[in-house]
Amino acid sequence: METPASPGFGPWLKTFHDPARRERIWQLGLLTGLRAEADGKFRPANFERGLVLDRLVELRQPRTVLELGTGRGLGAFALASAARAYGVDIRIDTVDLTPPAQPIDYAIEVNGAQKQLRASCEEIWKAHLDPALAARITTHTGFTTAILPQLAKAGRQFDLIFIDAGHDLFSVAHDVSYAAAMLAPGGAMLLDDFAPLEDFGIGTCIVHSHLRRLFEKVEVFPTEGLVYGGAVFPEAPRGMIFLEGSRLRDRRVRRGRLAFWKIAGAVLDRCHAPSLFPLRAD
Ligand SMILES: C[S@@+](CC[C@H](N)C(=O)[O-])C[C@H]1O[C@@H](n2cnc3c(N)ncnc32)[C@H](O)[C@@H]1O
Repeated sequence: METPASPGFGPWLKTFHDPARRERIWQLGLLTGLRAEADGKFRPANFERGLVLDRLVELRQPRTVLELGTGRGLGAFALASAARAYGVDIRIDTVDLTPPAQPIDYAIEVNGAQKQLRASCEEIWKAHLDPALAARITTHTGFTTAILPQLAKAGRQFDLIFIDAGHDLFSVAHDVSYAAAMLAPGGAMLLDDFAPLEDFGIGTCIVHSHLRRLFEKVEVFPTEGLVYGGAVFPEAPRGMIFLEGSRLRDRRVRRGRLAFWKIAGAVLDRCHAPSLFPLRAD
């Protein structure tokens, strides 16, 4: 696979003007990524990730893609629709702990009406999404801690890996390690939710410093709300990390060291507890 020159996703998103691509992802987002907030409003929750994935397919033409964290499918369907737009014979494997047939609270906009219903991803995909796109997607149900070692043992390699499952420190360290080990030569990785201001963002922030050692090119760029609006912290929007040029010589994941990350993650989680902070508000 040919490696393109620097894609520069940050500048690309900041000056984004591509009405066809904007509309393609918007329509998918309304069906697979809308978020219902506590105040009853609906928000396009970082639909920009779909634009970045679409752009990656255009630039890199990946044939094999692994997504960690299917969610309701925006990432996977954005990849499949981009592959159709750019004539790429793509296969997407996507992993989630929630089975696609399990009913969940599902926010969606259909024919201009926004609603929250109880439905499974399978039901929504069958009713509202193109079966030709769904045919490109293979779902795997289970924790990444179970599925990734199986895929690695089977010798699977991927041209593009999108990491967007658990965001706690252990999950990010675990998923990034297996993903890097399964990256095909010349492959690229994308991590969602670089979010230093938010509790869940700490895993990605810490692992980022290791990624700078392990990859030749690392680009951190803001995404949330830049094109579709709706950022939670507009002054410091959530972002993504793009990685290419793996420096790994030894692809073995040292599983024993993951125990350290499990303990460190549990301790860090406790740092958010108000009762453990040295100051009180009252
Ligand atoms: C942010 S959503 C994924 C969104 C999706 N990538 C997209 O672009 O629309 C995160 C998903 O990861 C799943 N998840 C969280 N921790 C996981 C784990 N350890 N193993 C597998 N899936 C996990 C959750 O069930 C959730 O559906």
